Amino acid sequence: MLPTHAQPTLLLLVAMLLTREYGVTSLELLELRVPAHVALGTRAALACRWALGPADVLYSVKWYKDGKEFFRHVPRDHEPRRKFPLPGVDVEKSSPNGANVTLYPAVLETGGRYRCEVSGERPLFPTVSDHADMVIVALPDHGPTITGSRLRYQIGDRVQVNCSSGRSRPATRLAWYINGEPAPSLALLPAMHEKHEDGLETTSLALDFKVKPKHFRKGDLKLKCLATIATVYWRSNEESVQGDKLKGYSRSRELTEGASRADRVQAAGKPGAAAAPALAPYTLLAVTILHVLLNKHT
Ligand SMILES: *[C@@H]1O[C@H](CO)[C@@H](O)[C@H](O)[C@H]1NC(C)=O
Ligand SMILES: *[C@@H]1O[C@H](CO)[C@@H](O)[C@H](O)[C@H]1NC(C)=O
Repeated sequence: MLPTHAQPTLLLLVAMLLTREYGVTSLELLELRVPAHVALGTRAALACRWALGPADVLYSVKWYKDGKEFFRHVPRDHEPRRKFPLPGVDVEKSSPNGANVTLYPAVLETGGRYRCEVSGERPLFPTVSDHADMVIVALPDHGPTITGSRLRYQIGDRVQVNCSSGRSRPATRLAWYINGEPAPSLALLPAMHEKHEDGLETTSLALDFKVKPKHFRKGDLKLKCLATIATVYWRSNEESVQGDKLKGYSRSRELTEGASRADRVQAAGKPGAAAAPALAPYTLLAVTILHVLLNKHT
């Protein structure tokens, strides 16, 4: 029989031996999932995954937002799962082991830094934690609008158009495309941001360039303005104008709606309706990779 005070030392020794024998380290945090962008009024599902070492017993799982605890799971407490009131953090659901918590509804105050902290029992009380940031997105009430375009342009004319976003938070990013190609930076004026009292912002981006024959290669000139917010929102507006050389003219407008389900971080990458703008970053990536490969082999 060992004296009681020697027991923690013995446990420590056992833990060390197990680690050496089986290569199993102590408690480990495997993954923390916090959606980077969450649309106002939707749900945010947070998940924390850990692995216990052979000598570990779970003591607690604690969730914090900006350093303040809002949820705790302590298996041997008489009330094993507890919520702590925190403005903007409403725990709607939680899994029995505290690994999953769902917040609903997301309000502006829900945004911040989330931490999951997992601790093992005595004598070592190993503790692991990780954190990730969440931004609450207020989607624009309408797609980008194009102003200032004329019905017809001739070679040598200046195209001076303006694109404005709806009100959003954070600010919407705008990009111009001429005949499907990103507009050269020389044709762009610096983007302008306007902040409103309610914290929402509007962005506008002006395009200014001289019409050259190459712009009418296929008979008409297409101007597209693409509005995006991180990966949760994209929408574009396109105007098509014809050159004067052709008989008659037409102008068409097209508003393409992208994923507005901002609760899904992956939404923009999903194949679906008018996938071109969403796929553009991947196309660019592919081109870059190809370029690198060619450089390597020459
Ligand atoms: C917890 O979250 C993970 C990751 O999102 C998910 O795969 C799992 O099904 C969730 N488990 C429960 C019990 O909700
Ligand atoms: C573009 O439109 C916005 C919103 O109407 C306006 O505030 C801005 O001054 C315009 N910019 C240019 C360069 O015309």
